[in-house]
Amino acid sequence: MIDVKDILIRFEDHVVLSGVSLHVPKGSAVVILGRSGVGKSVLLKSIVGLLTPEKGSIRVMGQEVIGMKPAQLNKLRKHFGYVFQYAALFDSMTVRENLEFPLRRHAALSEEEITARVEEQLKLVDLLDAIDKMPSELSGGMKKRIGLARAIITRPDIVFYDEPTAGLDPVTAREISKLIHELEGRFGTTSVTVTHDLECARIVATRICILHDRRIVEEGTFDEMLRSEYPLTRAFFQPEIA
Ligand SMILES: Nc1ncnc2c1ncn2[C@@H]1O[C@H](COP(=O)(O)OP(=O)(O)O)[C@@H](O)[C@H]1O
Ligand SMILES: [Mg+2]
Repeated sequence: MIDVKDILIRFEDHVVLSGVSLHVPKGSAVVILGRSGVGKSVLLKSIVGLLTPEKGSIRVMGQEVIGMKPAQLNKLRKHFGYVFQYAALFDSMTVRENLEFPLRRHAALSEEEITARVEEQLKLVDLLDAIDKMPSELSGGMKKRIGLARAIITRPDIVFYDEPTAGLDPVTAREISKLIHELEGRFGTTSVTVTHDLECARIVATRICILHDRRIVEEGTFDEMLRSEYPLTRAFFQPEIA
C-alpha cells in the first residue's frame, strides 16, 4: 500500500530524515514510535505529499507521490483519512455538520444517505447523543472520538494518525487506542500511526518501527521490541532497565 524508499528531508542544513524506508502492506497497522522532535510528523507529511523529500521515492497505492501534479495528488488523497495531532473539529459547526463535511466534499451521496452515514458513524464511536452538540460542549476524549469518526466516514483505504492519544489522560488514551484498533478491524483499513505513546503502539500496531536519529533503526512486532537490545528501543520498552 505504501512504499517509502531512502528519503532525505532537510530544512536548510538541518537534516531531519535520511535514508528512511518504510513498507506498509495492505491491511496492516504500522506504528512509528519515536521521541518528540525526531521527525514523525515530517515523515507522515511527506507520505501524504505535504512535504517533498529531496531524494528517494514514496509510492502510495502504486503511484509515485514525489513530483506528483496537484490534481493527481488531490485524487489520491481521496483515499486517505487523517487524524492530525492538532486538527480539531470545526468549532462553529455542530457534530453533525462536522461529520457531513467530508461526505459532501468527497462522496456522491443523497441527503438521506448522508444522514444515515453520519448516524452510523456516531453509533460506531458511541456518541449518537452528541449529534446536535457543539464541539465546545464535548470533553477532549469525546472530541477525539468524533475526530476518528470523521476521519473514516468516507471509508478511506489508508488512515494516518498523528499522535492520536496526545493530550489525553491515560484511561481516555487507552480507550482511543482501542477504538482505533476496533475500527481498523471492522473496515480492514491500512493505517500509519506516529506516536510516542507505547501503549497506543501495543494496542494498535501489527508492526512497530522505531524512528531515531533520522532513520528507522528497528522494526518488528511489539513482542520482538520487548526483547530488543537496541538502547533507544529499550528505553521505550524496558524503561526500568534503560
Ligand atoms: N516546516 C518546517 N521547517 C523547518 N523545520 C521543521 C519544519 N517542520 C519540522 N521541522 C523540524 O523537523 C524536526 C522534526 O519535527 P517533527 O516531525 O514535527 O517531530 P515529531 O517527531 O515530534 O513529530 C524538528 O526539529 C522540527 O523543528
Ligand atoms: Mg509530531
